[in-house]
Amino acid sequence: MIILFIGDVFGTPGRDALFHGLYSLKKRENVDICIANGENAASNGRGLSGRDARDIMESGVDVITMGNHVWSCREFEEFADRLPIVRPANIGRGSSGKKYIVTEVCGKKVGITNIEGRTFIDIVGDDLFACADDMVAAMKAEGAEVTVVDFHAEATSEKKLLAMYLDGKVSAVIGTHTHVQTADETVLPGGTAFITDAGMTGISRESIIGMAYKGVYEKYALGRKASFEPVKKGTLEIRGVVIDVDDVTGLARSVKRVAEVVTLPE
Ligand SMILES: [Fe+2]
Ligand SMILES: [Fe+2]
Repeated sequence: MIILFIGDVFGTPGRDALFHGLYSLKKRENVDICIANGENAASNGRGLSGRDARDIMESGVDVITMGNHVWSCREFEEFADRLPIVRPANIGRGSSGKKYIVTEVCGKKVGITNIEGRTFIDIVGDDLFACADDMVAAMKAEGAEVTVVDFHAEATSEKKLLAMYLDGKVSAVIGTHTHVQTADETVLPGGTAFITDAGMTGISRESIIGMAYKGVYEKYALGRKASFEPVKKGTLEIRGVVIDVDDVTGLARSVKRVAEVVTLPE
């Protein structure tokens, strides 16, 4: 089974990149299921509205994962339970949204969950290892043979730690949140595919992880109260990984980075 995992889709450019570039990418890579992190897909780069979710799914994404911006759009609560969207399982006790999804692809059950790190992040969740164990057990109890964990975390060490903790127990642990694609994609010794960060989808080159220079400079260099504005013009890219999973063992055969420049039609 071929899984395409797409890193944090950022703002309108991120959704545009998917709309104009995802179809051909999926076709070229023979993708069976496409998962995308949508925590920044809203026009202001924070959260996910119902319209953003619909746009992303219409572009060919099957399951959307989230992160620390999960409840930034207030309306998220209204549609999260009805759509194939997974939110971090170890934060927001009692809040709405699914902690994992099991879906069927090519006659096989695929489980997807979302866990948030606890280091250098604004919302510090519950014990992520216990939560990961619970989510993996729940997905497998529902028959999932292929399992993917979106680990939304800041610290590279914490990302590797959870990946090694889950090595051999899940098909893939994919890092999100830092928006910078790392060059360490690998299949760990136990058979779990891993990358520290899948990268961001949208405008990366001309932005600071999605936001315009001006507001970020004013806040961090001048110490002023400044609002961050998403960059609207620049190089559109889809970043992520393609994972080849053995349907029988549920373990990864390979993982490779995707960094696709998308050109808009004239
Ligand atoms: Fe993000
Ligand atoms: Fe995040």
